[in-house]
Amino acid sequence: MAAGSTSQFFNTYMRKLLFLPRQGATYAAQVDHLHYFVLLTTLAVAAALTVTGLAFFVRYKQRVPGKRGTRAGQGLLLEVLFIGTPLSFFLLWLGMGIDVYLHIVSPPADAMQVYVTAKQWMWKFDYPDGPVAQGVLHVPVGRPVKLLMTSRDVIHSFYVPAFRAKRDVLPGRYTEYWFQATAPGHYDIFCAEYCGAGHSYMRGQVIALPPAQFHAWYAAHSRGRTAQDDANDPAVGNSLVAQGERVAANQGCLKCHSVDGSAHIGPTWLGLFGRREVMTDGTALIADAPYLTESMMAPAARIVRGYQPVMPSFQGRLAAPEVAALLEYIKSLHDLPLQVHPPEGPTYEPR
Ligand code: CUA
Repeated sequence: MAAGSTSQFFNTYMRKLLFLPRQGATYAAQVDHLHYFVLLTTLAVAAALTVTGLAFFVRYKQRVPGKRGTRAGQGLLLEVLFIGTPLSFFLLWLGMGIDVYLHIVSPPADAMQVYVTAKQWMWKFDYPDGPVAQGVLHVPVGRPVKLLMTSRDVIHSFYVPAFRAKRDVLPGRYTEYWFQATAPGHYDIFCAEYCGAGHSYMRGQVIALPPAQFHAWYAAHSRGRTAQDDANDPAVGNSLVAQGERVAANQGCLKCHSVDGSAHIGPTWLGLFGRREVMTDGTALIADAPYLTESMMAPAARIVRGYQPVMPSFQGRLAAPEVAALLEYIKSLHDLPLQVHPPEGPTYEPR
């Protein structure tokens, strides 16, 4: 308890001293602690060097004109110390940095997902089967939120200073960003990549609400249909999944990709999302949103083993919301029950 409040005091003090905004995401304090640690150690070393330099200035002063001062000897131990100490600090920072970085770039599996489209000069937020919002991103407190971001024109960068995380938003590609808001409140969104004359006006806001309030907002702003409605009546569906199904049909995706697991010219979409695929060069990857988007825009970049590089690029042929809809559609093909007959013999009854 005493240690906890001391570190909390230290955290608050350092944060104010450095004019940092409040820590709005779960990993913000982790980022700040690394920041403080690097700053304080370099500050201490700089201070020690200054004091030593001044002391040597006096100690080794040329006292008799024409006569050299005492000459420093050579010491292996000192050499090792002078090289080893900074090196071990650099390695320590690197280790701590990698730890925080991996945490920030690995969204939890249960994260709520929102599609983000950036364009000159605004942010648009699309909730699968839910509301569409401009400029303002509503999220529940205490739940991880994953953003799948793309741009309609140039490179932008999604940056929330209070979360201490930033990610580039690129045309023709999806990048991921996740956070979990720690407290209700308003957090500024900035664009952190110069994207034209209106760059500095390309701002937005994250509004973190208590879960109950968030659900009320979500229900009030939803498009009025659920995934279940669309499953019952896909023809008139307005959810991203239903839109994706229409895009797939209109763009001719289904001429080469099956959705029922059967073999075709390209890999089947059934169970594709999140599947581990082996590429022609022997490397393996998980078919996630960034990979699937790359496959639409630059299909030849990485081909699944056993298939020919015959797919055309859809760069410029698919709008950002259509890509989001396709991804949601492919993802929805994950849970379809496989039409396989159970093997003969005694069936297993779960107890
Ligand atoms: Cu968008 Cu700067």
